[in-house]
Amino acid sequence: MIVLGIETSCDETSCAVVRDGREILSDVVASQIDLHARFGGIVPEIASRKHVELINIVIREALENAGVALSDLDAVAVTNRPGLLGALLVGVSAAKTISAALDIPLVGVHHLEGHVYANFLANPDLQFPFVCLIVSGGHTDLVLVSGHGEYAMLGRTRDDASGEAFDKSARAMGLGYPGGPVIDRLAKDGDPEAVRFPRAKLDGLDFSFSGIKTAVVRHFQQRGNEVPVEDLAASFQAAVVDMLVTTTIAAVERTGIRRVALGGGVAANSGLKQRMREECGLRGIELSYPPPELCTDNAAMIACAGYRHVMRGDSDGLDLDTIAGEPLAAFGPDSSA
Ligand code: KG4
Ligand code: ZN
Repeated sequence: MIVLGIETSCDETSCAVVRDGREILSDVVASQIDLHARFGGIVPEIASRKHVELINIVIREALENAGVALSDLDAVAVTNRPGLLGALLVGVSAAKTISAALDIPLVGVHHLEGHVYANFLANPDLQFPFVCLIVSGGHTDLVLVSGHGEYAMLGRTRDDASGEAFDKSARAMGLGYPGGPVIDRLAKDGDPEAVRFPRAKLDGLDFSFSGIKTAVVRHFQQRGNEVPVEDLAASFQAAVVDMLVTTTIAAVERTGIRRVALGGGVAANSGLKQRMREECGLRGIELSYPPPELCTDNAAMIACAGYRHVMRGDSDGLDLDTIAGEPLAAFGPDSSA
């Protein structure tokens, strides 16, 4: 089964062709980062307009790279939630048109479900159940995945997302947007113990990242450029990674599920992967994470998740809605303290 995936929830216009939910025939990602960088973050109206300009070009390129024709497609999967509404609408309108014109199933995919499914592209033999740490620019969620499409929320951030903490702290450090990749690179040459940034410890399996962002801003107000930026990046990254890893291990202990997967842009972070490997290794916990290009937003993960919907017989009508905010799942019993 050949599925066309479309992802336009934020600032990447992406289309991919995936066979049988595991073989990526093409995955084209047109990033708008340069357009938004000068504003220090995403400007929704610019994102929508750019998606309109790019969507047909990117779809055509994805088909060409895959060596398939429109008539070879068996289904179309599109991110319809959560995200910037104007941006989502562009992808959803394109997907509806293709579905109607070709008379093939249309499936709406939750963006975070895509991030979970990037793990199946990297590791098709990944077994259920697993605890998935989803870390992106808009979300930081710990989700128990017990089967295809079966999710229960274990914990989530109460304020900023971890990617947002990277982006806002990088801005405070004068490093530009997006902050994650720059901090990751600088941190490799820095001392993670140079500055002791606060680690928020909450009851249960929730996170909080607004405190560390404020601490970075305050650090600059009080000490200016006294500490080398590499040390600052390494100290900041170590604190964020510490919070993410500690809470994920607590989720493993609470649920007894000894399998962890990572997803979302921040899962590309080398410090997070290294510390997660160490802590999981010590405890005999199985760990899976996608390669960096499948951690950040891409349409292959949407096609992969969409394939599972089609296999289950789910499909959406041409009235498929776009939704700005919707959690992947409700809180499950394992989340209670
Ligand atoms: O999943 P994603 O591409 O888009 C959203 O769904 O939000 O995640 C983007 C986020 C940004 O905040 C970016 O700074 C962060 O992922 N990011 C990273 C790295 N690469 C991207 N954060 C830390 N280290 C990285 N290497
Ligand atoms: Zn994402």
